[in-house]
Amino acid sequence: MTNPMMLRNMDFDTISVRGKSKPDPTTGAIVPPIYQTATYVLEEIGVDKGFDYTRSSNPTRQDLEEHLAALEGGKYGIAFSSGMASADSCMKLLRQGDHVVCCDDVYGGTARLFNNLMTNYGVEFTYVDSQVAENVQKAIRPETKMVWVETPTNPLLKVTDLEAVGKIARSNDLLYVVDTTFATPVFLRPLEYGADLVLHSTTKYLSGHNQIIGGAIITDRDDLYDQLKYIQKSVGAVPSPFDCWLVIMGLKTLHLRMQRHWDNAEKIASYLEEHPKVSKVVYPGLESHPMHHVAKSQMKGYSGMISFELEGGLEAGKKLMNSVELCLLAESLGAVETMITHPATMTHAEVPKEERLARGFEDGLVRLSVGIEDPNDLIADLEKAFEKV
Ligand SMILES: Cc1ncc(COP(=O)(O)O)c(C=O)c1O
Repeated sequence: MTNPMMLRNMDFDTISVRGKSKPDPTTGAIVPPIYQTATYVLEEIGVDKGFDYTRSSNPTRQDLEEHLAALEGGKYGIAFSSGMASADSCMKLLRQGDHVVCCDDVYGGTARLFNNLMTNYGVEFTYVDSQVAENVQKAIRPETKMVWVETPTNPLLKVTDLEAVGKIARSNDLLYVVDTTFATPVFLRPLEYGADLVLHSTTKYLSGHNQIIGGAIITDRDDLYDQLKYIQKSVGAVPSPFDCWLVIMGLKTLHLRMQRHWDNAEKIASYLEEHPKVSKVVYPGLESHPMHHVAKSQMKGYSGMISFELEGGLEAGKKLMNSVELCLLAESLGAVETMITHPATMTHAEVPKEERLARGFEDGLVRLSVGIEDPNDLIADLEKAFEKV
């Protein structure tokens, strides 16, 4: 096993490509083997070679977990069968009567888990705009146990000052969970700002090719790692060795892909901002983003997600989304292919309309996950679709 402290000091791009893997000692294979096994033979009763049953651990999964931990500059990684399984496992750290302060713009699946399932177990949630850190402080109650922040958020791309909220979480002795699926460790490493748990949907940029569903949690804390491993072993939300291997393959080009996602997104955000049929563009890299100054200081780049609205609202947005050809009308994000999404009817369909509108999430909002194709082709595709609006 590689020492995580040593990996912390290595160049990020090298960690991205090499992770913790050394060529396989038995064969010299450069690509790590896939240990597609459910169980492991014991040497004798009570003596194994570090693995006893794949629900508990697996060498391919461990390879991925160490790779993810190294990228986040953390001590431990735990890979899950989906981003939602990671979120659910964080919820299992709580008890009946506990309260969570959560940012008001979260992925629709996270909101569904919190509002429609966890409330059945007596956990309560207060949603605040965490772009204003004091809102988090004001929402804290005696029974508050956790602060949950997504940054940038899905789909409004709100940006939270992680250090400011981290100080509030620490001074109130609260668990601080940060979902940075949209940013990836290439651009943002929340452990550096005081997060206890960093959460990812590895379905997105980390695997990057629309080929698996997966999740991960990274932490520096021994106690949380032990609890989450215990939860995972008890519940069984584990990814298959093959899926873990596919994420490892994705991580090897993460730094290159993210640079291109960002470059393309900047070009498209500027194009949209100039477009006469567009009424609003949200992209953390634009100076018009209300938290651009925070994004600039805590992120190394602005990633590949853009949200925008059209003059003509919902009807115009629908026409655009139904007219694109190269941009794919699909759920999900963070892959090499550009995807266009209508959050109100797709990813966030279960969020009540009044709640959406109250936080500025309009019916006509369009979300674009900018891929790594030629940006001119993407702009040409959008331009052709705008002509039909
Ligand atoms: C920010 C964010 N977190 C978590 C998830 C859930 O991940 P998964 O779909 O892998 O369960 C998503 C899914 O879109 C997401 O966008």
